[in-house]
Amino acid sequence: MVTVPFTDVAATSRDVWPTIEREYLECLLSGRYISGSRVEAFEAEWAHYCAVGHAVGVANGTSALQLALTALGIGPGDEVIVPANTFIATVAAVIHAGATPRFADVGDDTLLLTPLTLKAAITNRTRAVIVVHLYGQMPDMDGLLSVASDEGLLLLEDAAQAHGAEWAGRRAGSFGAAACFSFYPAKNLGAFGDAGAIVTSRPEVADRVRALANHGRAHGSAHYEHQFVGSNSRLDALQAIVLSGKLALLEEWTNRRIALAARYRDQLGDLRICPIGVDPLARHVYHLFVVRVADRDLIQAELGRRGIQTGVHYPVPCHLQPPLRRYAKGPLPTAEQAAHELLSLPLFPHMADSQVDAVCDALRDVLRCQPSRPG
Ligand SMILES: Cc1ncc(COP(=O)(O)O)c(C=O)c1O
Repeated sequence: MVTVPFTDVAATSRDVWPTIEREYLECLLSGRYISGSRVEAFEAEWAHYCAVGHAVGVANGTSALQLALTALGIGPGDEVIVPANTFIATVAAVIHAGATPRFADVGDDTLLLTPLTLKAAITNRTRAVIVVHLYGQMPDMDGLLSVASDEGLLLLEDAAQAHGAEWAGRRAGSFGAAACFSFYPAKNLGAFGDAGAIVTSRPEVADRVRALANHGRAHGSAHYEHQFVGSNSRLDALQAIVLSGKLALLEEWTNRRIALAARYRDQLGDLRICPIGVDPLARHVYHLFVVRVADRDLIQAELGRRGIQTGVHYPVPCHLQPPLRRYAKGPLPTAEQAAHELLSLPLFPHMADSQVDAVCDALRDVLRCQPSRPG
């Protein structure tokens, strides 16, 4: 039986290792692991890649979101709009910053926030919105920025799944007051463990995030001089070396992701499944290749029996997660309906064309065995 894994993180590590081995081992044996020139070098490279002035490396994407909110002055008494269809970390960061999440529904085609769903969620306590570039695609940024500006809201980007994504030719990370990235190993750009970054064009926000993430130490202050109570959320030098090495390969990997997605779309057209829509203005970087299908659980189980590993992102919309229900103000029908139908097919840069074909063959076989449902 052909087996197709959902992803292959180790393949990206094998690719990068020859180019970083010497520097990585030197750093490992140097004993200097926290901050320093390797972190600064990666921050400069990442800011350049995102076409923004400043990047601050931090410990992970969740912390990046919380630090960005705090640095922008969002806290107790403030409401922050988040899409219901996202990973729980987007919402947790709002709560950890002391603010209150308010859920918005998503558009039926892309399953991302839209100007209309954003508008519908605004109240007189709303201070900010976190726009999530879920699966690797940016939503209608022109429309969202225009609503945010009309309503006086800060716009933050959760770009944890969207390294190198674009809207109308402009990079993810360059639209919001700040944008947050995760470098969790399975992300399009992943470390050898947890890591994250905040990018911003505002130097004062970058400085504040840097201080908040380093026990409240201001730039240039002595080791035991603290301007305010911060936390410990720094990027490790070893992770910075890995990220710089992998960044040199990111465009090649992203283009391969895009080519694999096109191959899927060519073959899935005649099947009873519906890939998530892509806006013509978006460069979708396919962190995940997500389709909608009826009887999802059954189809997923049958694919598993045929050796095809799949995922579901996400089976429960955030407003229906038990610890978050108290923030829900009512049903969000599009996110709720989609949660029953979403299925993420394998897609990773080292995937062979023949593996895409094997997934499509298995899907064809599974769907042939399922009676078609009206509607
Ligand atoms: C959309 C989204 N936001 C935030 C995060 C949090 O990132 P991290 O796992 O690095 O804390 C993730 C990570 O999975 C994510 O997918």
